[in-house]
Amino acid sequence: MHPAEPVPFDAVRAAFPAVVRGDVTFLDNASGAQLPERVLDAMNEAMRTMQVNKGGAYPASIRVTEAKEAVRARTAAFLGRPGDAGGVAFGANATTLLFLLAEAVGDTLAPGDAVIVTGLDHHANVDPWRRLARRGVEVRTWAPDAQGDLHLDDLAALWSDEVRLVAMTAASNLIGTYAPVAEVGAWLEGRDARLVVDAVHYAPHRLPDAAAWRADAVAFSPYKVVAPHLGALWIAEDWRAALPDWGLSFLPAGPLRWEPGTQNHEAIVAFGAALDHLAWIGTLAGAPEDAPDRDRWAAAFAAIERRETALCGRLLDGLDALGATRVGRPGCDGRTATVAFTVPWASAADVAARLGRRSIAVTAGHAYAETLAREHLARPDGVVRASLLHYSDETDVQTLLDALAEEGAAAHA
Ligand SMILES: Cc1ncc(COP(=O)(O)O)c(C=O)c1O
Repeated sequence: MHPAEPVPFDAVRAAFPAVVRGDVTFLDNASGAQLPERVLDAMNEAMRTMQVNKGGAYPASIRVTEAKEAVRARTAAFLGRPGDAGGVAFGANATTLLFLLAEAVGDTLAPGDAVIVTGLDHHANVDPWRRLARRGVEVRTWAPDAQGDLHLDDLAALWSDEVRLVAMTAASNLIGTYAPVAEVGAWLEGRDARLVVDAVHYAPHRLPDAAAWRADAVAFSPYKVVAPHLGALWIAEDWRAALPDWGLSFLPAGPLRWEPGTQNHEAIVAFGAALDHLAWIGTLAGAPEDAPDRDRWAAAFAAIERRETALCGRLLDGLDALGATRVGRPGCDGRTATVAFTVPWASAADVAARLGRRSIAVTAGHAYAETLAREHLARPDGVVRASLLHYSDETDVQTLLDALAEEGAAAHA
């Protein structure tokens, strides 16, 4: 759609002061992203000039209310439901919001109803649904294969008319694999069941699309998308109208009924600057500056995917050359640049500790995808996870590979 124009990702990287500082090699980005200067500035500005509550009649309160609502509207567009700002709620994090959603959904289910969760998911989108078992709801698990891929025929085999909901991730935070969300959404057409999508690991790498997914709810974490610690949840209009919510008795209908208590306004306002950052990358990628946000984000994510896939290839090749055992998809197709592996010379925890002493940040263990690691991938002791974002570069990958080579040699000495 836009003329192909290589994005100067070194300039994008330069926008991240913590990355530029160079004292840490950030390869734990799936746990949370670093922030570009403009996001830090927006947070600072919000706390200097809007550190008041919303809904007041004085200028600072009017400003923070308007700023928050503007970001809510842009978040609806980011999730693929432009115009449905009323469906977006912010909260402490995605886990909290998914627990709120599941408890509300539970009020609408009867004993004997069933929900389906996946074995690929982070437990944030599993345990809130599993908890409904105490109400007599049957919880079925859609298991991935030994590589971590979900197959639609396995979902079909789990199906019965009692199923009311499928909760699935759009991408695995442990092994990076994309899940067939749009296929599931299409398959659910005509079936009396809702689709809840965890887009936490997807959203930093691809533009979410609740409409194309035919999702009824989408959760994600702005703090993985270069914003401060914050969660967000969109719920489809017809569903939220049918769900009990968490609003205090006098509150009118609307998103505030899913935002109990006062929110982190400064983080919400700063997420707006993160959305600007992505739009800026879209412009660097050739999208016109006056194009709608979503077009610019689409251009940004196309460039981001090219960039991350190239880095992913270097990382996979380097790990293979070092004799690491990789877990998940063999190549860079159908996955983010989030790479899980083990090495023969040390446990995952030991590798992370050795890298940590060199200020190289990775995750060791299951990254809260505990069932996936233990049961489906047969890695009870977990894996090392190195996860890249669009500000990552070749030096990050090489620093990791060099460190692994040296630590491996030291372990064998
Ligand atoms: C795929 C996925 N889902 C859910 C979560 C939980 O997100 P939060 O920390 O916002 O609760 C994470 C966090 O790592 C995640 O990676």
